[in-house]
Amino acid sequence: MPKWLKDAVFYEIYPQSYYDTNEDGIGDFNGIIEKLDYIKGLGCNALWINPCYDSPFKDAGYDVRDYKKVAPRYGTNQDLYRLFGEAHNRGMHVLLDLVPGHTSEEHEWFRESQKAEKNKYSNRYVWSGHCFEPMKGYPYIGGESERAGVYMLNFFKCQPALNYGFQKCEEAWQLPTDHPDCIATREAMKDVMRFWLDHGCDGFRVDMASSLVKNDDEVKSGTCAIWRNVREMLDEEYPEAAMVSEWNDPQRAINSAGFHMDFYLNWSGNGYSTLMRDYESGEDRSFFRKDGGGDITRFLDEYVPNYLATRENGYYCLLTCNHDTLRPKYNLSDRELKITYAFLFTMPGVPFLYYGDEIGMRYLQLPTKEGGYQRTGSRTPMQWNDKKNAGFSKCPADALYLPVDGSADAPSVAAQEKAPDSLLNTVRALLALRHEEEDLQADGEFEAVYAESGKLPFVYRRGGLLIALNPSGETVSAPVAAAGRTVRFSIGGGTVGETAITLEPQSFLVLQVTP
Ligand code: NOJ
Repeated sequence: MPKWLKDAVFYEIYPQSYYDTNEDGIGDFNGIIEKLDYIKGLGCNALWINPCYDSPFKDAGYDVRDYKKVAPRYGTNQDLYRLFGEAHNRGMHVLLDLVPGHTSEEHEWFRESQKAEKNKYSNRYVWSGHCFEPMKGYPYIGGESERAGVYMLNFFKCQPALNYGFQKCEEAWQLPTDHPDCIATREAMKDVMRFWLDHGCDGFRVDMASSLVKNDDEVKSGTCAIWRNVREMLDEEYPEAAMVSEWNDPQRAINSAGFHMDFYLNWSGNGYSTLMRDYESGEDRSFFRKDGGGDITRFLDEYVPNYLATRENGYYCLLTCNHDTLRPKYNLSDRELKITYAFLFTMPGVPFLYYGDEIGMRYLQLPTKEGGYQRTGSRTPMQWNDKKNAGFSKCPADALYLPVDGSADAPSVAAQEKAPDSLLNTVRALLALRHEEEDLQADGEFEAVYAESGKLPFVYRRGGLLIALNPSGETVSAPVAAAGRTVRFSIGGGTVGETAITLEPQSFLVLQVTP
């Protein structure tokens, strides 16, 4: 296990939208380098950068055309190597995005695989035996290549599935996972990983990590075996490299596949979605809404068993948002966000902060860009100040990758830096607290102390610290003995009695044993 993860706090950067230094309307590596001190000052000591490789950008870069070359719009490979070095000089780590399940239809491997004549890449993708032979139960494309076969898709039409084999082969064209050509796909992906790790990258966020082996069994034995093989390579050659999976099933991803971390993602109706995004029914019952009804058990019932089952082997990670999800500001006020982040940043595992959430950037209603569809509104340019294009770029406004939030009260870093009580300064204070208190970090113990359906506050223990939070508009009390404790950190206020903790509306307290 990489030691640095214990006190890591990640900042996810969507490179298109972070900071543009060459005035082409698109963010770049030099822009990220210029903002490293800002990110470090926030309390984030690690980055995850969304795919920045050469790509036709039909899925914002998740359609990789060349795994070893960056997209010229972000700079050069040398710029990215410099970014790794500058981050390391500041004690920060950088994860790139690894997309192992598919490539762009314009990748050289796919071009070769499409040829009629058999070659080294013929089995690099999943093809049926003939152009009139469909792939039952799978999305596929026919009629677009010289080769007489249809090929399987992994996501959009532009993303043919790489071939890691089938756990159970049912058709003649399905290869077993131990077929030399399927092993070659795995080895090719390890080669990509070594390339970036050798240039100073510190690991990977892994896209659709569960998607590799087709017709896999329920526990994903085939896919897990591949990742365990990758983990063995890392443990031997790059023991400080870290891997976080986009899987949303930590017992599989961490315990069986060997990932160091797995995300708890927003899937409709799951425990995480009840915290901030429970508005699909029309009525907003999100736990962190002032009027949400306050039922933390809907989260805990799913979180706790997964946390307990995986904590010895890795980290189950909570996030503010990501590039696929509606921003939390969509339905939460800044006050509600403060309590939300206070919770997310005092939980076990490694937290992830999505760029712009630290100032409460809005979700914008926008037409789709680069395959973003409804995700586009969470990918707008970072708002640095109240100058032209919110300080993101000096280019003409119509040349911007995506429009900036043009509302009169659009939040910005510059404005919030000046306001002691801003969301930005609250994030800084919370992350500073996390770095100071080992009990709040990834490995610190967690236990729900008072967590009742429909009742508040929610009280939990992290090692020697007791934490109580009340997202509602009412004053609430819990029968928790906290005598002898004093307030170490607070948002809003409360009182600590012999037999009860009382919290004012929308407040958060961290209580320590009186030193
Ligand atoms: C998940 C990524 O987060 C998303 O943005 C992408 O479109 C798909 N995987 C396909 O790679």
